[in-house]
Amino acid sequence: MPTPELEVLLSEETIRERVAELAIQISHDYKAEGVDDVYMLGVLRGAFIFLADLSRRLTLPRRVDFIALSSYEDASTTSGAVRLVLDVRAPLRGKHVLIVEDIVDSGKTLDYLLKILAAREPASLKTCVLLHKPERLEVPTRIDYLGFTIPDKWVVGYGLDYTDRYRTLPYIGVVQPER
Ligand code: IMP
Ligand code: MG
Repeated sequence: MPTPELEVLLSEETIRERVAELAIQISHDYKAEGVDDVYMLGVLRGAFIFLADLSRRLTLPRRVDFIALSSYEDASTTSGAVRLVLDVRAPLRGKHVLIVEDIVDSGKTLDYLLKILAAREPASLKTCVLLHKPERLEVPTRIDYLGFTIPDKWVVGYGLDYTDRYRTLPYIGVVQPER
């Protein structure tokens, strides 16, 4: 049952089907490129559920690691500044790194991440993003695999939060503006 104040944007079933499609495409592409070990790098905290589902559907060997960045102080306002708050556990040099991110909004977070990770000389560096709000984009950034394009609304669930709430909802919903 949806939480009453949320409007469902993407149902559990819709997300499941799209994640399965992405996994097929990603597995196919890496295999075609001769890659047999993908280093999946989830961006905490928002991507943890997406990474869990996507990683289990890939059909090639993969490892999982996490990085944590901070761009929003709290709620839905942006400070503009991106900060690395947790780094990977192993050097990325020579690895086929796939960044798994929940959402690209202004693009600042992913842009920053691509820059700092490229400097570590991975064998390849790609991105898989569940959601993208094109209307909000300020910094063009590289999205290799995209789940859904969505309107300029604050969304929650499936890992995404609003003031730390709603993260574990199985669907993606829109938070209604307060009356
Ligand atoms: P960007 O740097 O502006 O692209 O912001 C990316 C980050 O902001 C994401 O990784 C999310 O953590 C957060 N974010 C942006 N839009 C939303 C939203 O609608 N719901 C939840 N988190 C969001
Ligand atoms: Mg995020």
